[in-house]
Amino acid sequence: MTETRMSESGIVADLVLAGGTVVTGTTRFRADVAIRDGLIAAVGAPGTLPAAREAVDVSGRYLLPGAIDVHVHFREPGYTHKEDWRTGSAAAAMGGTTTVFEMPNTHPPTRSVTELRRKQAAAEKSHVDYGLYGLLAEDNIDELPGLIEGGVNAFKCFMGNTFGNLPSPSTGAMLEGFEIIAPSGLRISLHAETASIMAWRQARLVAAGRNDPLAHVAARPAIVAVEAVARAAELAGWTGARVHVLHISSAAELRPLAEAKARGVDITGETCPCYLLLDTGDYERLGSVIRVNPPVREAADAEAIRAALLSGVIDMIATDHAPHTPEEKRKAVIWEADCGFPGVETQMPLMLNEVAKGRMSLEHYVRISAENPARAFGLWPAKGRLEAGAEADIAVVDMDRSETIRAEALHSRGRITPFEGVTVTGVPVHTLVRGRFVQRDRRLVPETSGWGRQVTAIQRMPPAQPRNQDSTLAACLAQGRGLR
Ligand code: DOR
Ligand code: ZN
Repeated sequence: MTETRMSESGIVADLVLAGGTVVTGTTRFRADVAIRDGLIAAVGAPGTLPAAREAVDVSGRYLLPGAIDVHVHFREPGYTHKEDWRTGSAAAAMGGTTTVFEMPNTHPPTRSVTELRRKQAAAEKSHVDYGLYGLLAEDNIDELPGLIEGGVNAFKCFMGNTFGNLPSPSTGAMLEGFEIIAPSGLRISLHAETASIMAWRQARLVAAGRNDPLAHVAARPAIVAVEAVARAAELAGWTGARVHVLHISSAAELRPLAEAKARGVDITGETCPCYLLLDTGDYERLGSVIRVNPPVREAADAEAIRAALLSGVIDMIATDHAPHTPEEKRKAVIWEADCGFPGVETQMPLMLNEVAKGRMSLEHYVRISAENPARAFGLWPAKGRLEAGAEADIAVVDMDRSETIRAEALHSRGRITPFEGVTVTGVPVHTLVRGRFVQRDRRLVPETSGWGRQVTAIQRMPPAQPRNQDSTLAACLAQGRGLR
């Protein structure tokens, strides 16, 4: 904590992380990192940086850009017995995640600017930075301009039903929504499962008396995702809207994703640890705890998803952090168990464990956890990289440390996980958000509740190229053509 030396410019850093190894998307090198006013002031050879008010020795550890998780459900307002912004963001801080994008299926859902303001008020407790999703549904098309103006960071479209039972928009409503959102440049994240197929299948399975965990997989075969991804990609290509495929679970949906990318659609995709690390062989052991939408599928799906995450067809790792209470998860009849489980605290350890096993490089992990989400959601170059000028969002990682995942030790209110008892090697031992420790030595820094802020002001992506503007509903109405 002593001030020892002045830099040539006379500037003193607030903090220097000394002696660690900085990891980028392409390389790693030994370096000290100086932080000033929440930004990275300098990255330099060990011992060459200016004095700082505080120096922390991180030798033997790796410095990664904090993870950017574009898919979490923090449940507030409305379902705070499952989670709230304080507990959810504490879990993020403990997991090395420095920015989250939070989903609109709260109660009330984030369907207009009124609910957006309520969400923003709830989010003020956050330990980490955040983006907020606005809803794109059947019944709020007229609210979309207000949400864009009001400062949402992205949109979420539930093409299939899931927790919250928000009505899935018809293709007609989706098209108009895409037309309205496209010029803003904001990305539309898709829960890409086609509702009508699932409703039909589930009714048939229920009528046949199926109540077991695998019936959930049977109700949502991969064709629901294939059909939804293909349809949404067509609408995105047609309108110029940017889209993002959430929670990729199947080998089959990689084809429409890759095809859309190849023809120039601005489409990205994510997967989550459960689709990489679990498969149908785990249903007997885990029972209803594994129930999630979309479902965990066959081992061959997990293998294809792992390959796609390495090849770049899948752009990023996210978590679909979806906490529920143990009582809500443990049900004898699978249809009654709530879908999803917490993930924001375990994502980085689970993926670092893959790194430790030699299945992925640390550099690649930086690409899928930080760089790619930052670029896709407009945060780059302020976030997602450890270079001078960027915000000092940092996960300090110990690749020699092992921990066993225990639900009871999670900071989420949803203390139940399909990864119970899994021992991982590779753990974030400090997390910094804009230069401030929110997790230090594996302990939450409780007084940083409220430090997180919305990323709105950081960077707006230039608008995507709107296409087929003459045929938008708005254009037709303006010309009177749509009315006759
Ligand atoms: O399993 C899920 N749970 N999938 C989703 O898409 C939503 C989530 C939730 O909100 O519980
Ligand atoms: Zn989700």
